[in-house]
Amino acid sequence: MNRKILVANWKMNPQTFVEAERLAKAVSDAARKAKGVEVVLCPPFTWLTDLSHKLKFVSWGAQDTFWEERGPFTGETSPAMLKNSKVDYVIIGHSERRRWLHETDQMINKKVLAALRAKLKVILCVGEPLSVRKKGLQAAKNFVKNQLQKDLKNIYNLKPKTHNLIIAYEPIWAIGTGKPDDPAETAEMSRFIKEYLKPKTYNLKPKVLYGGSVTSLNIGRILEYNEIDGALVGGASLKANEFKKIIQWKSIR
Ligand code: 13P
Repeated sequence: MNRKILVANWKMNPQTFVEAERLAKAVSDAARKAKGVEVVLCPPFTWLTDLSHKLKFVSWGAQDTFWEERGPFTGETSPAMLKNSKVDYVIIGHSERRRWLHETDQMINKKVLAALRAKLKVILCVGEPLSVRKKGLQAAKNFVKNQLQKDLKNIYNLKPKTHNLIIAYEPIWAIGTGKPDDPAETAEMSRFIKEYLKPKTYNLKPKVLYGGSVTSLNIGRILEYNEIDGALVGGASLKANEFKKIIQWKSIR
């Protein structure tokens, strides 16, 4: 079985550096002993670079980036700045940013291209709302395909062809609701995404992660599918013991 990637998306948590450091240390200790997994921590920007320079055994990710390299863009952070701060991953296009910051597919596309150019590993989030999923898995696949088409526009112009693209399938209705997707359906969506991105225009071999109400109780059933390469974890990544169990998913199955 391939190495699984377990990504902690802390979102806008915790509120102090002391808490952030405690959590990150606990995860770093667990990651040192864990086998067959790569652990990626994505704290808020305020804590990210302090932690990334201090702690080992985990990789670091940002929760967003901007598409320009430098200049008058108040509040923004460039891909190069991340790369220069021991940050290897960046989450782009999370549904919460699409919703609250009104990020469009066009903006997300620019961010994806800029981040890949800077040699960051991009975790591009896609996923359908409940109204779409109610129409069935095929409708969800069409929705995701449409997002991929727009978010990855012109990716074939990037040279050399990048293997740094990861897709996170996060159905919106599964995020923070305690109602995860059925792992068999996630696996089918994952196969669909890989198949779709394979053809001539894309020629990509992305890893596909699942996100949405992942816990230590369901991680085993999700990761036992070969086509699911890991998980993007929100709420459960804020509890040290819970996330440690997720990292050790193989031994607790
Ligand atoms: P939850 O794990 O809290 O459902 O959040 C998922 C998510 O949005 C990760 O990016």
